[in-house]
Amino acid sequence: MKQDSLSQRKNGLFANLIANPKERRRTNLFFMIMVVLILAEVLFVYFNRQQLMTQDYRHYKGTFKQFGSIAQIGFYAALSIYPVFLLLKNKRIKAITWGTIELKKVLQFIGKLVRIWHVPIALLSTGIVFLHVYMALLRGFKLDFTYSSGIVTVLVLLPLMYMGLMRFKRNDRNWHFKLSITFLILFFIHANFS
Ligand code: HEM
Ligand code: HEM
Repeated sequence: MKQDSLSQRKNGLFANLIANPKERRRTNLFFMIMVVLILAEVLFVYFNRQQLMTQDYRHYKGTFKQFGSIAQIGFYAALSIYPVFLLLKNKRIKAITWGTIELKKVLQFIGKLVRIWHVPIALLSTGIVFLHVYMALLRGFKLDFTYSSGIVTVLVLLPLMYMGLMRFKRNDRNWHFKLSITFLILFFIHANFS
């Protein structure tokens, strides 16, 4: 019993969720980076509150929109895991070659990259979108389509990330995938039809 809790402590955060030690260390590191990023953003807003509250609104909005756009690119990159893995499952790609280059080999290489960077990119994008949301709400909430769609998007992002952690042990009952598609539709609507 004592030994059990000792080994868990040694393995740190996510010890029970992520079996691969390299993957666990990477997830731990980027989770910490996300937390530090969020804390830095809170401090940034705290120390610049006066200036941020009085800045010309169009300029202010331009700034927080940029953070939304950067996060959006990150979320697309995280989502790319799906089409890449889908193509890899297709048996017909084995026959496709360009000279000596086999499509399957290229996709396997890309698959490895997206698998390694999926979680770090998702965590960094979340850290970045926090500032977008924080700044959007700092100057007041408006009950309009943009604000409402943004809030609903964030409300889907939180369980999506939780189910992502469950996904490591395949305990998510496919909810990570279902929520990721819902999230994609929501942030696409929020970002492009606002
Ligand atoms: C994961 C969540 C979110 C993502 C990925 C996201 C992303 C974006 C993107 C890409 C834009 C457009 C930027 C541009 O046109 O250059 C945008 C605009 C905006 N977002 Fe978000 N956003 C999120 C959540 C939120 C939340 C929670 C709020 C506020 C409650 C919010 C408020 C706004 C506002 C006010 C705009 C400006 C719309 C306009 O042009 O008038 N967003 N967001
Ligand atoms: C804390 C954040 C996240 C964690 C821990 C996480 C974890 C995972 C894991 C372990 C997989 C399975 C990979 C495999 O089969 O080898 C996966 C797949 C996937 N993730 Fe995430 N993810 C996170 C965030 C996100 C976000 C923000 C999105 C959407 C923007 C997303 C979309 C997907 C998609 C589409 C798949 C492929 C479908 C599936 O296997 O369920 N994930 N994720």
